[in-house]
Amino acid sequence: MSRPLLTVILAAGKGTRMRSSLPKVLHQIAGRSMLGHVLALAQGVGGEKLAVVVGPDMDIVRKEALAAAPGADVFVQENQLGTADAVLAARNAIQGHQGDLLVLFADTPLLTRETITALLGELDKGAQLAVLGFEARDPGSYGRLVTAADGSLDAIREAKDANEAELKIRLCNSGVMAFRLDAPLDVLGKIGNANAKGEYYLTDAVEIVRSQGGRAAVVVCDEDEVLGVNARRELAGAEAIWQRRARNRIMADGATLIAPETVWLSFDTVIGRDVVIEPNVFFGPGVTVEDGAEIKANCHIEGARIGSGARIGPFARLRPGAVLDRDVHVGNFVEVKNVAMGEGAKANHLSYLGDGSVGARANIGAGTIFCNYDGFFKHKTEIGEGAFVGSNSALVAPVKIGAGAYIGSGSVITKDVAPDALALERNGQEERAGWAQKFRTMMARRKAATSK
Ligand code: UD1
Ligand code: CA
Repeated sequence: MSRPLLTVILAAGKGTRMRSSLPKVLHQIAGRSMLGHVLALAQGVGGEKLAVVVGPDMDIVRKEALAAAPGADVFVQENQLGTADAVLAARNAIQGHQGDLLVLFADTPLLTRETITALLGELDKGAQLAVLGFEARDPGSYGRLVTAADGSLDAIREAKDANEAELKIRLCNSGVMAFRLDAPLDVLGKIGNANAKGEYYLTDAVEIVRSQGGRAAVVVCDEDEVLGVNARRELAGAEAIWQRRARNRIMADGATLIAPETVWLSFDTVIGRDVVIEPNVFFGPGVTVEDGAEIKANCHIEGARIGSGARIGPFARLRPGAVLDRDVHVGNFVEVKNVAMGEGAKANHLSYLGDGSVGARANIGAGTIFCNYDGFFKHKTEIGEGAFVGSNSALVAPVKIGAGAYIGSGSVITKDVAPDALALERNGQEERAGWAQKFRTMMARRKAATSK
């Protein structure tokens, strides 16, 4: 039943109310641009063909679109003459397309796949046009959906063009529309700009389709889903809604969040079953946490894989390339970057592990530092299985510590250490019997002499 789908994403708005040097649609929610979210949605609903309409001088938006969807066509709308004009900027993609057409706004990042699937379902049920509507808490400047007794859509009236009775309607247009038309360019071409704003309104397509004997349907969704972002406060509002949904999803999948409202997830965070996450944990992009791992309070984690049964934090920082096998322990004030830690390896306190590897069951003592950077290049520290690195050791990379070796506390290790050896880098300890007592007596006498 369903036909090949072309999705046109409107992203030409500059978003001046964001007060930003970055075009609005590149602002991020959960670590991914709003445009990226909308492109992922379009791909998720089976949009075989994607067209993105950007404004002039928006090369950076073009790049983001092509990074997220390499097969997309990007078009430039030279002047912002309205939403119908914006869709027509993608004329070349629409021209050759045999199938359905979906229009999305790149500044509406919270739409779900289920809702779009329901919208497209209306086309399968015989509508030529389907509009996504919502009951607005405050209808304000939204277009109003004028419906017939049978629930189908008669017209969309922009607030500026609406009469008093129409303004009372609370059912509003989200802007999202789907079309199944033999000649979509004919319909779009008939849209004029004789209205209050002097713009080419995409919404006028409803009356044109109806005048040709077609039917227009409405699908209603929750207002939160169609929240449009125009200013930073709305961006934060959209982030809050996104986070609430994501937390609920990982809890439904079997994770325990002690204080869900304090845990921040990214668009691609993967959390396994029986993972326990304590308060105040931030997940940047690229994190996977396997079953049964425990993330204690106040951790910052990005680009990391955490194996099952691992214990992280409190106050740990995992940076990109931290790959922790099963049952690894990374404790308080430990930073791990670009290091693979084998099963059961431990770094429990106050360490920097950067660039290298730690073998299974190795123990990294408190205060150990991988000295990975010489000011010009990064070098590797490789620690064998079951090695024991004493506290406050500096391992100057490139360096290899053999399996089962011991490093004496406080050593600065600059040369490779053989397996099962002990490496120490210290001066011999000296002890002078009774020295402290003599010293105190002498100093007390001296002080008494000066205070006379
Ligand atoms: C539009 C709808 C309105 C709906 C509202 C929902 C029309 C005529 N009106 O109104 O019914 O309630 O969205 O938010 O469609 N854009 C372009 N080029 C343009 C104009 C717009 O790319 O020339 C993009 C904007 O960047 C934005 C989207 O289209 O992402 C909507 O445009 P906007 O001007 O905000 O439309 P509204 O007046 O809010
Ligand atoms: Ca020393």
